[in-house]
Amino acid sequence: MEKPIKRIAVYTSGGDAPGMNAALRAVVRTAYYHDLHVYGIFRGYEGLIDGELRRLERADVGNIIHRGGTILKTARSQRFREAEGRKQAYESLLAFDIDACIGIGGDGTFTGAKVFSEEHHIPFIGIPGTIDNDLYGTDYTIGFDTAINTAIEAVDKIRDTADSHNRLFFVEVMGRHSGYIALNTGIGSGAGSVMIPEVDNSIEALIDKLKKGAKRKKLFSVVIVAEGNKYGGATEIAQKVKEQFNYYDTKVTIIGHLQRGGSPTCFDRVLASRLGFAAVEGLLRGEKNVMAGLVNNEVAFTPFGETISKDKPIKSDLVRMAEILAM
Ligand code: F6P
Repeated sequence: MEKPIKRIAVYTSGGDAPGMNAALRAVVRTAYYHDLHVYGIFRGYEGLIDGELRRLERADVGNIIHRGGTILKTARSQRFREAEGRKQAYESLLAFDIDACIGIGGDGTFTGAKVFSEEHHIPFIGIPGTIDNDLYGTDYTIGFDTAINTAIEAVDKIRDTADSHNRLFFVEVMGRHSGYIALNTGIGSGAGSVMIPEVDNSIEALIDKLKKGAKRKKLFSVVIVAEGNKYGGATEIAQKVKEQFNYYDTKVTIIGHLQRGGSPTCFDRVLASRLGFAAVEGLLRGEKNVMAGLVNNEVAFTPFGETISKDKPIKSDLVRMAEILAM
């Protein structure tokens, strides 16, 4: 029989995302409401291996709901991929008498949690924290909304200068292998085209579209490129386009890590609060090795195995709409 849950540990892992602090606050406050003790693991799995755990009091999570980044720090851990690293991590949990863990991160975080809990039988619950929005089992990940708002703010500014100089801008956004950030940034900023990994937009098709725009005397254009786009990032695409079509003066902007920082939007704070709260209450009800997500505005728990292995396809009606509205 599994031990009753009295002490939990919480960590953030992988790339930071705005709203992770709000999720942490919700975990700690909900845990105290249920008379649990909470420990923070610093620097994700790296800190777990090195025994960097510290008791978190309610006050430790005061005044953090609005802060970007993660007060627990984060890391991508190579050592946790090895059984030896995970054994050391288990010893850290034993030393602090931890009964269950809550991990805030993306698929790498949940892959690690799944392997670890299968080996060492400690229940885990995951909270999706990544700007990429690429996790099966939740309509939105924490940080995505803030990231797309940061990106459209940048693109709005680029439009001003693109318009003034009659230029063609290629703006690269993050998202790793997924196009959620790019598609939403494209729709929200009214971009002329969006290049995402999920759709086979060839360079030829893009040039064709740009030529049609030029014929209609379109004075400038902004193309949003997902970093994982299969024909290359913004720099490569801009170069290929320029070689065949140089009607516009062409510029490239890579928004980069700006998208990961900043104060979370209200949407991300509320999402993080709901999922942090649900994760603790789920653990107490016996949920384990699942990710707490939001599906159709209801909390849903999805086994790690599914969230790691299943794709979350981009909605084709959104892609179609984005194309029509950009014409
Ligand atoms: O997963 C979040 C993310 O920001 C991706 O969009 C991006 O590809 C990656 O992390 C960048 O990672 P790092 O900050 O380690 O360079």
